[in-house]
Amino acid sequence: MRDFVSARARSIAIQPQTSIDTSGSINLASGTPDFTTPSFIIDAMVDSLLAAKLQYTAWAGIPALREAIAAKLERENGLRIDPESEVLVTAGAQEALMTVLMTLLDPGDEVLITDPHYGVYTRAATIAGGTMVRVPTTFASGFVPTAEAIAAAITPRTKAVILVSPSNPTGAVFPRDVLESIVRVAEEHDLVIVSDEIYEHYVFDGAVHTSVATLPAARERTVTINSLSKGYALTGVRLGYVVAPPDLIHAMLPFHHAMTICAPITAQYGAAAALNAPRDWFVPILAEYDRRRIAWMQALDEIELPYARPRGAYYIFADVRPSGVDLETFMRLAREAGLILGAGGDGCIRGSLMQASPRLEEGLERLQALVRRIRAEADAHA
Ligand SMILES: Cc1ncc(COP(=O)(O)O)c(C=O)c1O
Repeated sequence: MRDFVSARARSIAIQPQTSIDTSGSINLASGTPDFTTPSFIIDAMVDSLLAAKLQYTAWAGIPALREAIAAKLERENGLRIDPESEVLVTAGAQEALMTVLMTLLDPGDEVLITDPHYGVYTRAATIAGGTMVRVPTTFASGFVPTAEAIAAAITPRTKAVILVSPSNPTGAVFPRDVLESIVRVAEEHDLVIVSDEIYEHYVFDGAVHTSVATLPAARERTVTINSLSKGYALTGVRLGYVVAPPDLIHAMLPFHHAMTICAPITAQYGAAAALNAPRDWFVPILAEYDRRRIAWMQALDEIELPYARPRGAYYIFADVRPSGVDLETFMRLAREAGLILGAGGDGCIRGSLMQASPRLEEGLERLQALVRRIRAEADAHA
């Protein structure tokens, strides 16, 4: 029998999700917010269910939600858009990024992304027939990219540049002046900017999130991706959206329709309620995440593992090589010590702020004990 799996599918094959028993482990890697979604959002979803709102919606989303998105963008981001022609509601940011890259890329087109990056972007670009080109950023600069590095990676095939700020996995928040200089490069080389802003509400140390589309000359070449997953703890509800000029939104519709027809209707009603409400409920939640961020930094300082001070998102990116072993060995030893960490790549782990006390402290103690043990064993063998 021939191989039924296409070459394209084989080229993007991933490890299946494992179901190893991690019950005794402490998860310091979670990408899921651990606060409870405000009840008024759940109520809106329940009300829509009780009213039997259960059918397909307009492909681009229910008008009430598109209007709520437009109002939110004006209120929170300073961006005025037309809810009729400039918004597409999707099944999460994940569908949004797939739909966007399918719409933008022809075979062989190159897309730039600042690295380290959320790996799904590379997979999506490959599925869309394009090639992802990584623009390295460094520990020294806190993983903030430079316009020069982006310009240096541009070739005649470059079509788009992807920016994820606040960043998963590094926690970097790209300052306004850096974004402005990247927009100038995009303008000079006629590139589309894809700006993934799903961590916009997670900023620390006084860092300010800038919506790229609000910058001078950015509006007509920027595709903004956002989602309710992170800012409203709705990861399983699958609700995201794309904001872009009308011709681009129009061109996205066939891909979106072929994949999902429309975003889940119940999620759309919840999202409309969420986006129409002020976000004062989030203030104490963010303060709690800040406490956890400081606990992480103190723990890493004590064992002298370098990290990039996270100014946004809810991750911390730390280099484990100064422990004396490589990332793969470190991850294995951590698993054996009952710790789940994210592999950030390039010798770095990606820790998460989504573990509460006292498990957080217990997890950080396990991490410290592991590093001390690795070093003691290396000393004993020296
Ligand atoms: C940078 C980034 N973009 C997109 C996504 C997907 O988000 P959603 O749950 O909205 O599909 C994630 C999820 O972790 C992410 O980190």
